[in-house]
Amino acid sequence: MDLFEAMRCTPTSRRFSDEPVATEAIEAALENARFAPSGGNRQGWRVVVVRDGGLRAKLAELYLPRWRAYTELTGAAQMLADPGSFDPVRVRMVRRADEYAERLAEVPVHLVIGVQLSDLAVTDADLPRTSIVGGASIYPFVQNLLLALRGEGLAAAMTTLLVPAEAEVRELLAIPDDVAVAAHVGVGHPAEPWPTKLARKPVAEFAFAERYGEPLA
Ligand SMILES: Cc1cc2nc3c(=O)[nH]c(=O)nc-3n(C[C@H](O)[C@H](O)[C@H](O)COP(=O)(O)O)c2cc1C
Repeated sequence: MDLFEAMRCTPTSRRFSDEPVATEAIEAALENARFAPSGGNRQGWRVVVVRDGGLRAKLAELYLPRWRAYTELTGAAQMLADPGSFDPVRVRMVRRADEYAERLAEVPVHLVIGVQLSDLAVTDADLPRTSIVGGASIYPFVQNLLLALRGEGLAAAMTTLLVPAEAEVRELLAIPDDVAVAAHVGVGHPAEPWPTKLARKPVAEFAFAERYGEPLA
């Protein structure tokens, strides 16, 4: 598919059909995603492809309480309880995310993405703020994977709520201690048509000319 179309129309899909996902399609997506950049080209990504129903159910059990806690923390729980008082677009998203959390065990393929910690050069580790550089060597791979899955006609949702459950996820999937859990990607065939336009801010709101805040055009 066209590169720009893929970049602009790869949504977070939270509803999947029952159509089985071919192993070849997952392998083809991984085959393309591996061309992502990483610091020093260390390619520290590790992926566990989970299809087993028992393991998917256990991952879902770890996910759901963290989703519930997140909804309390962010006010999303309030949105679900009193939808009439909130922006309908946000309510729709939160409802779908809630449904996704409730039905995660049914999502046909779970990709648990890890990163080998020794492959990360975290150049902002000593700054007095939250470090973000470590993620720069794994999340380009995850985005490549989402696009590659889209290219295979597969829908996907990336989430990070299993990261706080890293110890349990490691134990469940035999992931070694020196591999950090970075993301979970639920994959399946889409139950709905692909969107033609994702809701995003215009360039003028985030890109500047020469000095922060100066209009680009
Ligand atoms: C770091 C990260 C964490 C996310 N966590 C969740 C999550 O916990 N649950 C969920 O349903 N979606 C999650 N998402 C998906 C976002 O909600 C989604 O990217 C955003 O709403 C835009 O959706 P769209 O691409 O379909 O427009 C996450 C996305 C990212 C990049």
